[in-house]
Amino acid sequence: MTPSAVPPVPDGVSLFATPAAMAAWSGAVRARGERVAFVPTMGALHEGHVALLREGRRHADRLALSIFVNPTQFAPHEDLARYPRDLSSDLSHAAAAGVDAVFAPDRAAMYPAGHQTTVRVHEIETGMCGDTRPGHFTGVATVVCKLFHIVQPHVAIFGEKDFQQLALIRRMVRDLDMPIEIVGLPTVRDSDGLALSSRNRFLSPEERARAVAIPMALFAARARLASGERDAAVLISEVRRTLVGAVDRIDYVELRDVENLRPLEMVDRAAVIAVAVHIGSTRLIDNVRLE
Ligand code: PAJ
Repeated sequence: MTPSAVPPVPDGVSLFATPAAMAAWSGAVRARGERVAFVPTMGALHEGHVALLREGRRHADRLALSIFVNPTQFAPHEDLARYPRDLSSDLSHAAAAGVDAVFAPDRAAMYPAGHQTTVRVHEIETGMCGDTRPGHFTGVATVVCKLFHIVQPHVAIFGEKDFQQLALIRRMVRDLDMPIEIVGLPTVRDSDGLALSSRNRFLSPEERARAVAIPMALFAARARLASGERDAAVLISEVRRTLVGAVDRIDYVELRDVENLRPLEMVDRAAVIAVAVHIGSTRLIDNVRLE
């Protein structure tokens, strides 16, 4: 980040642009015997992110937020270039939510020349967003692993909105023996049910109106299960039928075990039904748990 690009930093918030500065803050907090909670984001903060920050506050003495639009989790044809960036508004949200430290590195700080190590969580990254976004989850696992090493949190908070991402992070933390508690939070939705997303701002009013079909389809599946339908193929085809008239393309509708994300044919244990669709030029994901 160039000095001229840094907006005014609200009182009480420390802003760091390098891994060394961020790690020094965390090291000092830990040396005082205090606990650090961490919420990683790509910025363009909304009430969903704020819910994670509030939860973070409850778990620790100090709260750190990262804002980094991670290039390695975007495929070449995806929306990296137009992904919304608004550090000044993000810092106001952060201050209001009680954030102590914001880590906002640039690309060179996170991936200096010669960077070549990645983290791959093999099984969980297959299917769902892994099929339609090749390489995405290796980018996510790698950057979250790096952020965990830099921020050194005791606890990190993630949203269930990105259900596959949350499962992947939990697996990575177990597999690599990271001493970090992972907390997942339910999806925060608009009053009509649409999951909040930084990408919702790309929707035109007409597209926004069509997007409500996504939560409606998922809630209808949950109601069908409650009335006794356990066949995954039936539930999936009902969701597809509701979506087809409203969205422009369906990437997937999948029903999976909540724990290991393996596909299920019958809902005979806790499951999640997840979708990814395109409306206009915007790709949206959502899911609900089926218990
Ligand atoms: P981002 O899309 O900014 O999301 C940051 C966190 O906010 C994620 O844990 C996500 O699940 C959560 N979140 C997003 N929308 C939400 C909603 N409506 N309700 C509750 N939580 C919500 O996910 C990423 O960034 C990146 O992949 C990241 C983990 C930062 C790695 O680059």
